[in-house]
Formats: sequence, C-alpha cells, structure tokens
Amino acid sequence: MSNTGNVVYLDGEFLPKGEARVSVDDRGFLFADGVYEVTPAYRGHFFREHRHVARLQRGLAALRIDWDPAGLGAIHQELLERNGIAGEEMSIVYLQVTRGAAPRSHAFPEPAVRPTVYAYARAFRRPSPERWEEGYTAITTPDLRWARCDLKTVALLPCVMAQQAAVDAGAQDALLVRDGMALEGAHNNLFVVFGDTVVTHPASNQILHGITREVVLEEARGLGLPVEERAIPVEQLQCASEVFFTGTTTEVRPTVRIDGKPVGSGKVGPIARRLQEAFLARVQAETGVDALAGVS
Ligand code: PDD
Repeated sequence: MSNTGNVVYLDGEFLPKGEARVSVDDRGFLFADGVYEVTPAYRGHFFREHRHVARLQRGLAALRIDWDPAGLGAIHQELLERNGIAGEEMSIVYLQVTRGAAPRSHAFPEPAVRPTVYAYARAFRRPSPERWEEGYTAITTPDLRWARCDLKTVALLPCVMAQQAAVDAGAQDALLVRDGMALEGAHNNLFVVFGDTVVTHPASNQILHGITREVVLEEARGLGLPVEERAIPVEQLQCASEVFFTGTTTEVRPTVRIDGKPVGSGKVGPIARRLQEAFLARVQAETGVDALAGVS
C-alpha cells in the first residue's frame, strides 16, 4: 500500500503532516475565509490543471485574497512525488488558500497579512467497473447555501449537512433543491437526461462551475447529443430517462434511484455509460495515461 498524504505543503515548505501548524487566528479557521481546489492526477499526470488554477484565481480575485498561483503546478507535482503516489491510477491534490492569520475582526486585516496556503495529496480509489454498473442512489435535500455557490470557498457546512443526510439515508449523493429547482450535488454537478437530451443547470451563481461538468458538456456535444443548460424543476426528475452526477472524485456517476424511486428504467443508462467512457477517453487523450479501467 502506498503512502498517502504524509508530506504536506504549508506556506512554502514541504513537511510531515504531524509537524504542520496553522495559527488559531487563521481566518480560514475563524471565518471560513478562503478558497480551495481539488485537482485530479491520473498516474501522476494532472488533468485539466489549468482549469482548476483558473477557477482558483477567479475565487481569489472575488474574495480579494492576494496570492499568485504561478508556482502551483510544481507544488502539485512535488506533493505526488514526495508521497510516492505519482504511479497511482488516480490521486488528488487538495489546496486551500485562506486570507491568513490576524486577530479576529470581520473586515480584512489592515495591513493585509500573508495568506495561508496548505495542500496535501492522496491516492484516490476509483470504483470498480462492477460497482459502477450497479448505479448509485441519491436523496433530494434543501439547498441552504449562500448566494455565491460559484465560488469554491471552504465554507462547506450546508454541503456537509446535505451529504450527511444522504449517508444517513444510505444514499451516495445529495441533490440540492432550491425554489423547486434541482441544482447540483453536495460535491458534484447534476445532469438529467430526457430522451436523449442532456440537461444541466446553467453555470450561474447557484452552482459550482465544475471542471468535470465542462468536460462532459464538451463530450456530449462531440457525440452529437442535444445539450441544454437550463434550470431543472425537481418534479421533472420523475420523467427523466437518466440522472448522473459529475465531479473530480465522482467522474460520471449514474443515479438509479432518487428518494427511493427508480430513475427511468432503474438501471444505469446508455448515455451515462457513453459519457463516462468519453470522459475517460478524454483523460487518456490529455494525460497520455492508458491504464484506466473501462466501464463496460
Ligand atoms: N467538489 N459542485 C460542488 C458543490 C462541488 O463541491 C464540486 C467539487 C463540484 C464538481 O466540480 P469539479 O468537477 O470541478 O470537481 C460541483 C470537490 C471535488 C470537493 O469538494 O471535494
């Protein structure tokens, strides 16, 4: 078993996780005042890293945190190597940047303090093709988040509560519903298929603009499937032929039951299967990694 996550990155240094220390004045700790990213690597090759960096940059700008992610690629790579996981089928790097440590006061510290930058890497076990073929279950739950869900901030409590509600119900995903619309999952984006039309919520401030969502939309269009980016009334899920979630650690995950009711045939559908295959083919094309397990 390879070593996972023992060497972390903190403020310019690589060090054993047990030696990493963050101030109790850190605004990430006190206010959830920071942003994060989760970037995947397949056998040590990062996938769509530039898109993750671009999203991070956009979040930092929105929060007015002054940190330059120029050196991030090297940090990512070094974390994989120092943890001996560059050869793993898949691994992820978690990175968070907070506004830094300063005595508690709501407004930004004046003068500004140095942002706290923390990252770790770990191997990630993708589901077996057999498990994937069984399909997954989801529950619907109210979306209690703030009005800027497009920012990947570390303020994740509504998502934590939603995901726990799914776990308590024995389900794998939590589908967030606001004003009667099915928006996205607690940590992944939602796609619904009607006939052969692939529908997902527009990239508004009500959802996170997932990198996997982007790739899946490209692939759906490339396969010639009709695609719509529009809000999805939750009652329309009853006439969906397929539902699936997408995300860095989710890839394309087919949902066969929502709130105990079967989706479409109650089995993994052909469009989720084609898009998972297309997604993996895209990973292979961009990373050169050819060791991924297929899904069929
Ligand atoms: N979650 N929607 C939400 C609310 C998310 O938190 C995520 C990512 C996504 C999918 O985005 P992407 O395809 O870029 O991973 C959608 C990360 C992985 C997490 O919180 O661990």
